Amino acid sequence: MGTRFLPATKSIPKEIMTLVDRPLIQYAIDEARAAGIKEFIFVTSKGKSALEDYFDHSPELENTLRKAGKDELLEILKETNMDSGAIAYLRQNRPLGLGLAVWCARRLIGNEPFAVLLPDDVIAAEKPCLQQMMEAYEQTGGNMVAAMEVSPEKASSYGILDIGQDMGSIVETKGMVEKPKAADAPSNLAVIGRYILQPKVLTNLNKLKQGAGGEIQLTDAIAEETKSGKVYGYRFRGQRYDCGSKSGFLQASVAFGLARPDLRDEFSAYLHDMMALQKAAQ
Ligand code: G1P
Repeated sequence: MGTRFLPATKSIPKEIMTLVDRPLIQYAIDEARAAGIKEFIFVTSKGKSALEDYFDHSPELENTLRKAGKDELLEILKETNMDSGAIAYLRQNRPLGLGLAVWCARRLIGNEPFAVLLPDDVIAAEKPCLQQMMEAYEQTGGNMVAAMEVSPEKASSYGILDIGQDMGSIVETKGMVEKPKAADAPSNLAVIGRYILQPKVLTNLNKLKQGAGGEIQLTDAIAEETKSGKVYGYRFRGQRYDCGSKSGFLQASVAFGLARPDLRDEFSAYLHDMMALQKAAQ
C-alpha cells in the first residue's frame, strides 16, 4: 500500500515514483528486457491504474513531439510502450503478501519457469542483475534468488538463506526463512527482489498458510523446494538500493543522478558545495 511514502502515495502508486526522470517500474522493465523477457504480468491493486497508462501509447503527446522534431524524446517514449498482448494486469484484492501476489498470476504463467522482479529493489549494475542470474541459471536450472550479505541486525527485514554448498557467486540453499530475528537467522545472506522460479513454486503457494507477518510468503513456497528440488542463491555484482525506504530512495536518486552524463557535472558540483557547507557548519 506504499504507506512509507505517504502522503505521496495517496494518489501515486509507489512504482511510479521517480528516480531522476524514470519511474521505479521502468528500471525493473528495462532489467527484465535485458534478460530477454518479452511478456510481463503486473500484479497491482486498487489505485494503481497509473501503471497501465504509463505503458500505453500516447498518440497526442507523440504527435506533438513528432511535429516539433523532438526525435530524442520520441525514442525515450518508445521504451515505455508495450506490445498489445505482451502485457497483462492483474488485481490482487487483498494485501496479503508477496506470495499471494505471485499466486494471483498462476493461470497466466502456466507451466513454465518465470521471473519475479520487485521494483522496490533497484539494482545498478554493469550487467543487469536478472541477466547475470539468467546466465547462471542456464548452468544450474532449478530455482534461483538474488542474494546479498546483510548485517545481522538487518536480517529481520529479509528472507534469509540457509546455506549449503557455497560455490562463490552461486550458493546451494538448504532452506529459507522469512524475516527471522537476528538470533534465528541461519546466515547473513539475504534474498533481494529478483527470482527465477519453476512453476512448482506456484503449486506450493496453493497449499500455503499465512507465514511471517500474517502474510502468504513467497519465501515459504520456495523453501518448500529445497526439500525435493534445487534452490540457489546468486550473489549478484552490483549496488542494490532499497527504494521501499526513504533513505534508500534518496541514495538511489543521488547515485542515478551522478551516473547521468547530462547531469553529472552540475549535480556533483552542487553536492560538493553542500558537503563543504555542512562541514563548515559543524
Ligand atoms: C520481500 C521478500 C523478502 C526479500 C525482500 C527483498 O520482502 O518477502 O524475502 O528479502 O522482499 O527486498 P518485503 O521487503 O517486500 O517485505
